[in-house]
Amino acid sequence: MKEADGADQGEGEALTARNPAFRDDPHRFYDRLRSSAPQFRDESYGRILLTRYDDVRATVRHKGFSVDARRANDPSYMRRVAGTGVLEGRGDTAYEPPLVLLDDPAHRRIRGLVSRAFNPHSIAVMEERIEAITASLLDAIDDADSIDFIADFAAPLPTQAILDMMGMSDAPRDDFKRWSEAILWGYDPERDSATQTRLREAFLGMSAAFRAAIAARRRDPGDDLITAMVRAQEEEDRLSELEIISLCTQLMVAGNVTTTDLIGNGLYALLTHPQELSLLRAEPERIEDAVEEMLRFDCPITETARIPLEDEQIGACPVRAGDTLTASLAAANHDPEQFDEPHDFNIARKAREHLGFGSGIHVCLGAPLARLEARIAIHRFLERFPRVELDPMRAPERRALPFFRGFTSLPLRVGQH
Ligand code: HEM
Repeated sequence: MKEADGADQGEGEALTARNPAFRDDPHRFYDRLRSSAPQFRDESYGRILLTRYDDVRATVRHKGFSVDARRANDPSYMRRVAGTGVLEGRGDTAYEPPLVLLDDPAHRRIRGLVSRAFNPHSIAVMEERIEAITASLLDAIDDADSIDFIADFAAPLPTQAILDMMGMSDAPRDDFKRWSEAILWGYDPERDSATQTRLREAFLGMSAAFRAAIAARRRDPGDDLITAMVRAQEEEDRLSELEIISLCTQLMVAGNVTTTDLIGNGLYALLTHPQELSLLRAEPERIEDAVEEMLRFDCPITETARIPLEDEQIGACPVRAGDTLTASLAAANHDPEQFDEPHDFNIARKAREHLGFGSGIHVCLGAPLARLEARIAIHRFLERFPRVELDPMRAPERRALPFFRGFTSLPLRVGQH
């Protein structure tokens, strides 16, 4: 087992976005781990960090591995991150884990029901709405010389899209964005009591808003996601009220900050690779491939986790029941065994087998929506601002949070178009 060699990378917090060097260039760390300790036992966080594409893919697809944080050994990373964060955050005694932390048979039952509501028809209907939201955000910044791409465009777009899909178009968008960010910080292994308080307030705020929306849709059904879930509950009695609230919360959280990050990371990759930007401008029909490459090159969810339920072996590394396996999707997406010249951003690459949306039974439910939003957002933004460039006076800033990689601020100059 080649474990100790990876120690010069540091461990624990040093291998997360809380470390500025890791945040700036995680692949410097991942590359060295992949070649010296591809199954790295990170003692200080109680986890095994996987960086090879084959290990990561096999782990997220493994039928005998759990995602339920309550089945992880105490202490171990999964327990520390997801188990307590969600439990403490709810502020009430009932705990309904999100789909992504739920095993079969509950996972199969709930995913089946929500997939029916989240079907290709409801996504196709969204195309027109996403175009309209995009156009109105672009109109609002049309005369500006400089903007913050995140605050002015990439953040409000997906929040409004998911609210519209839920039939809550007039709900306070900024509150939902703030709550979503606060809930993501519940995944910070080093969170302090202020973060914990914001997390609790966010859960309570969102739960109250969704409870009210569910009651309104019961009285006055519409053609929206909440009505579809309420119908599934009434017709088949297979979704509880708490499950609907939990699903709404996770669709909101999973669906908006990640998509903001994809649009932000993607535009940044284009602006820092002018040849690729020129190619996309000249041949805008490449947008689908370009978005797949953005998902591979700088994926918004960098890591996920699994818990073996029995003692196993991954490569040369023995893993015990209850261990936390951290599968780095970002590292897998840059494995040279899988992708040629993995650190090159190349929109002509057919990067379909990237793991940006995971794989297996927990593969991202919202992937078609996220892809659609990113394609429209980036295409329309480039069309509207032919001279966009990074603002030389203001540096971009990235979020210092493990798992969720994106910009908190991306200042741009867009004037003189
Ligand atoms: C670019 C944007 C997005 C990225 C990068 C992303 C990424 C992911 C990944 C990697 C997983 C699998 C995690 C695992 O296996 O442990 C996942 C699951 C999930 N995603 Fe997304 N996601 C995005 C957008 C969305 C959207 C727009 C929605 C819905 C509105 C959504 C809803 C979900 C749900 C419900 C799950 C859990 C599925 C399950 O456990 O069965 N995501 N996502």
